[in-house]
Amino acid sequence: MKITIKHIAQEAGVSTATVSKVINKKDEHISAATVDRIMKIVKEYNYIPNGLASSMVTKKTKTLGLLIPDITNPFFPEIARGVEDKANEENYSVIFCNTDDDLVKEEKCLAMLIEKMVDAIIIVPSAERTKDFNSLKNISIPIVFVDRDLEIDFFTAKVLVDNYEGSYNAVTYLIENEYRKIAFITGPSSTKTSQQRLEGYKKALEDGCIRYDEKYVLEGTFKREWGKQAIQQLIEQKIDFDAVYCGDDIIAIGAMKALKEKGYKIPDDIGVMGYDNIYISELVEPSLSTVRQPNYDMGSKAVSIALEAIDDKQIKGEVTILKTALIIRKSTKKR
Ligand code: ADE
Repeated sequence: MKITIKHIAQEAGVSTATVSKVINKKDEHISAATVDRIMKIVKEYNYIPNGLASSMVTKKTKTLGLLIPDITNPFFPEIARGVEDKANEENYSVIFCNTDDDLVKEEKCLAMLIEKMVDAIIIVPSAERTKDFNSLKNISIPIVFVDRDLEIDFFTAKVLVDNYEGSYNAVTYLIENEYRKIAFITGPSSTKTSQQRLEGYKKALEDGCIRYDEKYVLEGTFKREWGKQAIQQLIEQKIDFDAVYCGDDIIAIGAMKALKEKGYKIPDDIGVMGYDNIYISELVEPSLSTVRQPNYDMGSKAVSIALEAIDDKQIKGEVTILKTALIIRKSTKKR
């Protein structure tokens, strides 16, 4: 027999409205003894409330929308895991959308999530989202930006990392270890992430008394294929380099593959430094020196803030900047 809210109410000797209030935790005016009695019956029958009916009472769907640019880059699942774990801990579910760094797809995902009446949106914006902010502006539920910054002033919160400092530390480390001709294979320059990392690179060169030369900077995508292609370009253009610093670990892994195929030894001939500290960076050969980002924590923190905002605590414009840490492995060495 399918147990309904009516059965629970009859057995507890209360109205269905009272049961509904208890299940949806809107029970401030109901005695503790009644709440206990109802919950005991709910547990006894393993009663699972009808989500739609609950949503009508609470005006909440207990779901969050998560938009990320590229599920195949392990950096993003690490953020997503932080989002999901924290959301589940708080009895929320997550509807996930992969935008492929494509603005049109991102717009469609946003519209779908609003239609599904998610209670808040957590978004790592696509690389193509550079100036068209209208659809974001019109969102009336809390919206938390993660990892990639945008120049907007109508957000609930941003959870970011200090890309400039992470990049500065990575390049300074290379210089301190006697690398002098450091190529930088960046992600898309449309992202603040890439821009901030480039600034960190330039400042580290300046402080290390190395002249900045734009021929050492190759701009592309946050993808492995780009790492391979960029190495080919450096070689074809006969650019003399002794290290490659990469916009993310996936680019670095592509670059390492291309370097090995061309017969270079890492780190003896060329040092390689990544960014993100995705789990694979430890497993590649040689293991990759990189910059650790608190990927999981960013996702988890974004959910905490989003849930506070849903509960009407009116967080507007809170910016959290998390720290990075340098992880030195076998792809770089003292020269
Ligand atoms: N794409 C891959 N890694 C990234 C990062 N750390 N920040 C922004 N976009 C990325």
